[in-house]
Amino acid sequence: MKCRRIFITVIWCCLLSTAFAADPKDGKMLFQARCASCHNVNQKLTGPALAGVDERHPEAWIISFVKGSQAMVKSGDKAALEVFNQNAQIVMPDHPDLNDDQIRDILAYIKDEASNAPKEEAPFSRPGEKQPNLMPLTIYNMPFMIAYVMLIVVMIILLVFLVNIKSYEKHVKDDK
Ligand code: HEC
Repeated sequence: MKCRRIFITVIWCCLLSTAFAADPKDGKMLFQARCASCHNVNQKLTGPALAGVDERHPEAWIISFVKGSQAMVKSGDKAALEVFNQNAQIVMPDHPDLNDDQIRDILAYIKDEASNAPKEEAPFSRPGEKQPNLMPLTIYNMPFMIAYVMLIVVMIILLVFLVNIKSYEKHVKDDK
């Protein structure tokens, strides 16, 4: 009986934690309704691109900025002033009706979107596009194929020689 009660408690905890965890799906809807007119995650629009914003500022700072950025600018918050000046002093409207969890959802969505963005300089990015004539390992690549076949022939000869080396030695001894 005791075991079962513990089991049920654990299940409940799991369910509750997923319900309260920051949810990128809610964040996406909020972002599109309230932020997308000025912000894109990976591109500058009226407002700055928001990718990596959670690394530029602490979470509490972002939450208070989204709720009331001008209040922060006027109170002389250094980071807020800097962002304000960097963006031609365009005023970001306040969102006092969003609660902390909704803003965390939006941040989770931003993080999700930022990591989905195609990385231009990924080492494995489309070799055919960068070097259209690159044809590794096809029979149409004649010089490569000839070198390849020759390498295999040399290796077979070497192998046969190594396997038979004992009998060669014997021959040499017998001849003496
Ligand atoms: C009317 C346009 C507009 C809307 C809508 C808007 N923003 Fe902004 N946002 C800006 C501008 C402009 C800035 C630059 C800072 C400033 O001028 O105060 C900014 C700055 C920011 C910053 C600081 C970015 C940085 O790089 O430091 C964050 C975070 C931010 N916005 C989040 C949001 C979120 C979240 C929403 C939606 C709830 C939103 N914004 C809606 C215009 C907007």
